[in-house]
Amino acid sequence: MKRGRPCAILVGAAIAAACGTVEPGASPSNRAGPCDLAGPPPRDLAEGRTIGTAYRSVFADGDRCYAEIAGRDFGSLTTEIGTMTNTVAPTPGRFDFREADAVADAARRNHQDFQIHSLIWDPLDQQVWGIVPEYVRALPDAQRHRFMTDLVTKVVSRYAGRASTVTVVNEPFDQRGGLQHNAWWRSTSSDEYIVEAFRAARLAAPTMKLLLNEHSSETISDKSNALLALSKKLRDTTVEVNVDGKTERRPLLDGVGFQAHMLGGPDQQPRTEDMRANLKRFTDLGLDVRFTELDVRIPTKDGRAGAEDLQRQARVYATMAGLCRETARCTGITFWGFTDRHSWITDYPATFSGYGSANLLDADYRAKPAWDSLRSALR
Ligand code: XIL
Repeated sequence: MKRGRPCAILVGAAIAAACGTVEPGASPSNRAGPCDLAGPPPRDLAEGRTIGTAYRSVFADGDRCYAEIAGRDFGSLTTEIGTMTNTVAPTPGRFDFREADAVADAARRNHQDFQIHSLIWDPLDQQVWGIVPEYVRALPDAQRHRFMTDLVTKVVSRYAGRASTVTVVNEPFDQRGGLQHNAWWRSTSSDEYIVEAFRAARLAAPTMKLLLNEHSSETISDKSNALLALSKKLRDTTVEVNVDGKTERRPLLDGVGFQAHMLGGPDQQPRTEDMRANLKRFTDLGLDVRFTELDVRIPTKDGRAGAEDLQRQARVYATMAGLCRETARCTGITFWGFTDRHSWITDYPATFSGYGSANLLDADYRAKPAWDSLRSALR
């Protein structure tokens, strides 16, 4: 993992000298404090939408700018790892909510919306991440299924009244639109596991917004067609719940999260029109949509990006923000981190070889061109 040394204790010109190089196109460090950013923060723009970031409490330890900027400039915090299976249920019979609680507490302190992420996920292409612990994989199918619904119930009921939103099931499809044959799927050998995960979430917190989340589905494709069909099925399935003392039936699904891990190299952007048409298919079902993990990785050499790529990246951020703004049912955007200092893209160089610099701020918390273009697009 790439981790720089803490820069928060340094001020003025010392920052540039001690904290690494300035990205071309990054704002000069003419700021009063090391964590200051010019202009209105994203959280105050895009009225009616929540513009937030993924958050990990450990990144805030000894790094003042991480906590300060996350708390000041963004309207919501989402658990980056805090509600993943290997974090909350690392060993049999033991639950660990310390990380998720820390994110919830930070959001409360900062008067922010709190969202929980990716309860049921087993990325087949990244088994090395160990998201589903071995003891869970080894359970017989019926028990693994029961473990799944219990886990959803436990996590969602714990954060009922605190979290506004949860991405209940993450990345259920392969690129061709088939269901991933992952550990959760193996319990039912069908999409039944997804229906049951959502049912458990709805019963545990009837008013929490329940999202289905997927990557590489921003345009119309076999994969997004399958996502649409599943979304319709979940929307059409209702369950009886009790809200404010009244019994009513609610659909299992409120919205769809499009991860939006975008590529910002030359000619790598999907057509805006294709994304617009795709989003409309989901909102026409009465569903909310959200960009849940937006970042824009660009070509880098020795960790540095060129000015042209940074400008193109700024345009991609603006395009995504504009799309959300123009879509009445887009609830907002969650960035998958906001600084290149703490970025899953640079944490996994083998996965994203030749790419980096994906976030809005550089590794020294200086605004990249994307910071301004994003804010203009949100206004
Ligand atoms: C990533 C986190 O950022 C990493 O810290 C963790 O090690 C693995 O997961 N799609 C998702 C996110 O839905 O949950 C992933 O987050 C990135 C890809």
